[in-house]
Amino acid sequence: MPIRTIITSALCLAVLSGCANAPFGQSAEVKRGQLVYAKECSQCHGATGDGGGPASLGLGMTPPNLTTLAQRYDGVFPREYVRRFVMGLSEKDDTSGAMPEFAKVGLRHVYPNGGADGEVLEADFEDMLDYLESIQQ
Ligand code: HEC
Repeated sequence: MPIRTIITSALCLAVLSGCANAPFGQSAEVKRGQLVYAKECSQCHGATGDGGGPASLGLGMTPPNLTTLAQRYDGVFPREYVRRFVMGLSEKDDTSGAMPEFAKVGLRHVYPNGGADGEVLEADFEDMLDYLESIQQ
């Protein structure tokens, strides 16, 4: 086999296997949203959203599994509920919860869309909601 064919085949394989590592169907929004989730939420809700991140140990309660939201809300991802809950805009019976109200504290760490410190950039927030929707069971 000519050396050029071998090199070309090897390159093709490398490119193909690189693709195999990136899950198909994950949009740019979902990927950006995953970054926001990883920095702002995973310490309590877990790396995969199923509850029990490292910071949850000291909370005295287990942060809910965020991958079963759709299941628990009639099979539809409750986007508005999540938006209001996370921003701290929903009425709560128990206001002693450990969950930060992000309208007050802001998204602090990652700004894929270029927001400044402490600012909740709508685009970041929407991306994060897209990510949460994508991990529903
Ligand atoms: C300091 C830990 C902590 C962090 C950080 C945190 N949460 Fe929570 N979260 C909780 C706890 C504890 C609850 C349980 C209810 C409460 O506290 O009122 C909760 C509840 C929720 C609920 C309601 C779930 C349900 O079943 O009704 C949603 C949605 C949610 N969190 C999303 C998020 C998202 C998205 C982020 C990141 C932007 C985040 N949380 C960051 C601790 C946390």
